Amino acid sequence: MQRSPLVALVFFLFQTAGAQNFSITSPTGLIRLEVSNATTLTYSLTYKGKSVIAPSRLGFRLNKPVATLTQFTLLRADTTTFEETWTPVWGEVRTIRNQYKELRLSLKDQSPAGLQLTVVFRVFDDGLGFRYEFPAQATKYLIVAEEQTQFALSGDHKTFWIPGDYDSNEYLYNTTPLSAIDAVAAANKEPDIAVKAVIGPDAVQTPLMMKTADGLYINIHEAALLKYPAMHLMLDKKTFTLTAHLVPDAVGNKAYLENPSRTPWRTIIVSDKATEILSSKLILNLNEPSALKETSWIKPQKFVGMWWEMHVGKATWELSSGKHGANTNNVKRYLDFAAQHGFDGVLIEGWNVGWEDWFGNWKEDVFDFITPYPDYDLKELTAYANQKGVRLIMHHETSGSAFNYERWMDKAFQLMVDYNMNMVKTGYVGKIIPRGEHHDSQWMINHYERVVKKAADYKVMVASHESVRPTGLHRTYPNWMASEAARGSEFNNAPALGITPEHTTILPFTRLMGGPMDFTPGLFHFKLNQFEPTRTTEVRTTLAKQLALYVTLYSPLQMAADLPENYEKHLDALQFISDVAVDWEDTKILEAEPGDYLTVARKAKNKNEWYVGAITDENKRTLNLAFDFLDAGKKYEAIVYRDADEADWKTQPEAYVIEKKPVTKKTKLKLNLAAGGGCAISIREKQ
Ligand code: NOJ
Ligand code: CA
Repeated sequence: MQRSPLVALVFFLFQTAGAQNFSITSPTGLIRLEVSNATTLTYSLTYKGKSVIAPSRLGFRLNKPVATLTQFTLLRADTTTFEETWTPVWGEVRTIRNQYKELRLSLKDQSPAGLQLTVVFRVFDDGLGFRYEFPAQATKYLIVAEEQTQFALSGDHKTFWIPGDYDSNEYLYNTTPLSAIDAVAAANKEPDIAVKAVIGPDAVQTPLMMKTADGLYINIHEAALLKYPAMHLMLDKKTFTLTAHLVPDAVGNKAYLENPSRTPWRTIIVSDKATEILSSKLILNLNEPSALKETSWIKPQKFVGMWWEMHVGKATWELSSGKHGANTNNVKRYLDFAAQHGFDGVLIEGWNVGWEDWFGNWKEDVFDFITPYPDYDLKELTAYANQKGVRLIMHHETSGSAFNYERWMDKAFQLMVDYNMNMVKTGYVGKIIPRGEHHDSQWMINHYERVVKKAADYKVMVASHESVRPTGLHRTYPNWMASEAARGSEFNNAPALGITPEHTTILPFTRLMGGPMDFTPGLFHFKLNQFEPTRTTEVRTTLAKQLALYVTLYSPLQMAADLPENYEKHLDALQFISDVAVDWEDTKILEAEPGDYLTVARKAKNKNEWYVGAITDENKRTLNLAFDFLDAGKKYEAIVYRDADEADWKTQPEAYVIEKKPVTKKTKLKLNLAAGGGCAISIREKQ
């Protein structure tokens, strides 16, 4: 790592008269940032000379002290350059290049409050990150009423969006011009989302993905969201300007800051190639290096689970129904299946007392996270799992009672250690307790951080559900392996909008920009009336596409979501899931268009194996796949799992073909993806 000496220390000490303009370009000059401290402080951004962000306001409104911070006196300006190459504990690539130019403006606000504020801009070749820092000063405590940050866009861009909502991010994506966004109407179409706090018709969530008429792809999000609420965006349809809207606490304040303090980074990723949006590491680069010194216990992995049985009505979480899923014998069946097919773990939901009463009551202490149901023999199952070389995966559903979870956390994690478990799935279904808090408020952001830190103390990896959408914190806390924080596979079972074929082509450009998703792919049975004949829901993909998702939806933690009996009918296809890697040496985004298609090739870490995943939306598609990512002079065998000629997500979702083919770097294959379909390929070097 190397921080270069100040490239330039720029003047303007205590200068008051006249505008002060700054301009810096990214390392190769692709991107240009301009900042002006005139009447107000503004910034703008261009990519190859095209406007990305027109001059846009920066600043704050405070409740304590009461002040508006938009007019500033410049104290000093510094620019530096930075470059490093770092190695993530796990990820899509072995090493990551982090290179930017930084502009740091130290300011004094001109209101009577006279607060000092520093705005830091980092310009990369793939975009911009900026944040606010309040240095230590006489005024120690601030209450933020609203952040004034704006993003003025250059036109009525095509936009992939979900409604701004303080509590839920589990929406289906809408694709419209900015001018046609109606978040309230979209949210009203979603009866399957239990807890909503929709902000208003013009509010959208980040990561927000846009495509301009002149061919730019723009993604707006945030990085390193810590000790601050999540940011939503309010759209002004007349000017196409987005304004930050922070998630409030129970009394309407946005954030409580104790100086020195700082906000998360606001991020703008831009390229004229959709593939480059997906390979951007800007958000990770803006996060701090790992806070955990010893990380050898953190292991990417694949698992199965006592889970889908409950969602499709075969079993229940609660004991009292008479069809309790998490009973000792049933769990042994899953452990056998996991051991036989090479899975590392088995997630068990409904193992603990409390599920009779967990949903919709807004009760404080439904679960204690340590008391199993009487038909679940934790000791016996641990011995059985150990003997099979598989681990049980813990489930901590908090039913929104985050405070209660904090009370029990030490005991809950100690129980895991005692029973040889090192992975927990957390959940926050329902309204948050403390009452009046929202899933994405500052209190909850602090809670999620407390949980991953506490988990690390016990060497526990975390996958969180119903938590805030990620912002690259897996660099700092690599035991926070994945989050749900979007519409995942469980919605295949939802009667209303469900999961449409295009959803998985949009997720990588939106939710996944901030970090891995516990999507839980791998469904092999598509009519979901197996156990309750009145169900009409169907999974809207082909089987081959379910395999491809293991490559296209990156996560170091991948579930095979379906039931053992459904996999047993397609063991030849299950082989792909058993084989596919979850930690990668390298990743090539071969082709991509949000809402339409995505093809990705990844090389497994420490193995000469590649995996390819290609998916399409509701339209069929011909994929011309060049294997030029392979090493020259080597021979490989590819196993192609593709849609059969008659496959179609509506009529023949289970029709697939598996073919073995010799391939080299020079091979080109033409492959047909069915409507709602996909293709998965495993490639091994021939010895
Ligand atoms: C919602 C989660 O997303 C799902 O995976 C889980 O099974 C239920 N909550 C119960 O905790
Ligand atoms: Ca969920």
